[in-house]
Amino acid sequence: METASNSDFAVRVCAWQRQYGRHDLPWQGRDGYAVWVSEIMLQQTQVETVIPYYQRFMARFPDLATLAAASLDEVMGLWSGLGYYARGRNLHRAAQQMAVTGGFPSDFAAIAGLPGVGRSTAGAIAALALGERQAILDGNVRRVLCRAFGVAGWPGEAAVQAKLWGLAEALLPEVTEIRPYTQGLMDLGATLCTRSRPRCAECPLLDDCLAAREGRQADLPQARPRKTVPEREVALLILRYADQILLERRPASGIWGGLWSLPEAEPDTPPAFIAQRFAAVLDERPEAEALIHTFSHFRLHIRPRRFVVQRWPLQDALPGQVWLALDDIEGAALPAPVRTLLERERL
Ligand code: ADE
Ligand code: SF4
Repeated sequence: METASNSDFAVRVCAWQRQYGRHDLPWQGRDGYAVWVSEIMLQQTQVETVIPYYQRFMARFPDLATLAAASLDEVMGLWSGLGYYARGRNLHRAAQQMAVTGGFPSDFAAIAGLPGVGRSTAGAIAALALGERQAILDGNVRRVLCRAFGVAGWPGEAAVQAKLWGLAEALLPEVTEIRPYTQGLMDLGATLCTRSRPRCAECPLLDDCLAAREGRQADLPQARPRKTVPEREVALLILRYADQILLERRPASGIWGGLWSLPEAEPDTPPAFIAQRFAAVLDERPEAEALIHTFSHFRLHIRPRRFVVQRWPLQDALPGQVWLALDDIEGAALPAPVRTLLERERL
């Protein structure tokens, strides 16, 4: 977009948002607390999905003090179904922190210090709720900027990320326009400049958009460079005894060396062999959804096989084994995919 000035970009985004953007979202025009809750919910989840959750959440926790006083269980109950549950736990933790430190923060830097709030989320809350002149750069905005300005490279890479933040800052309008501008960029990315079918004919940036001019919408933003890596498949065994899960310590060398992990098995080991290995009576349940975990030198396909323990040999746990209560997974030294599996198990 080398011909148009930066102010032109913002002017177009603002004009478009006023006419075509979203104006009836339940968190629009509300205070920092309400906008914070909405932005956390919107981090990994689309607006249409978020709205009913947001409304139930705000009906039960209308303000910071109410949220801070609630139990984590109740907060997570209302989060249930939204996914990415660390968001809910962080929200509760942040509320308790703020209740002690004097309420919802009133500037960007303090907002950015809250658990679960990254730079873009802090920018969105500061701009939308406080009218502060701050930039945002979520996935949707990254896509718009990469296309409009032909930013090459994978946006996950630090140098590309830095370039995009530079652009995002340079494009900001005067502070008086920060709200429509911020909302407009989000709306444009979510409704027009979509990943697979951007509606360029309706886009206010069309005249100057590099991707549109060169027909490169499908190539921008560029994908993560794909190395071809070897694939391995394993089963991880989720042995559940009441609310406890059996963990085994990994050998010191090899993947997850020394960490507590789920027992591993060949993917198609018959259930009887698995029961025999633990000298236990086990009842196999439907497999959980598979996970793929990428290491530097190979990609691991994880099949989570789930068992309920009907009977367990006399000793509680052998050396190198431990029963972990699902309520205690927070502090445990678990490999990330194992944590993911156990968090799912806890729902
Ligand atoms: N995505 C993230 N934040 C949003 C917001 N405030 N409005 C619409 N979509 C969003
Ligand atoms: Fe996205 Fe098309 Fe608009 Fe360019 S013209 S910003 S590719 S919707």
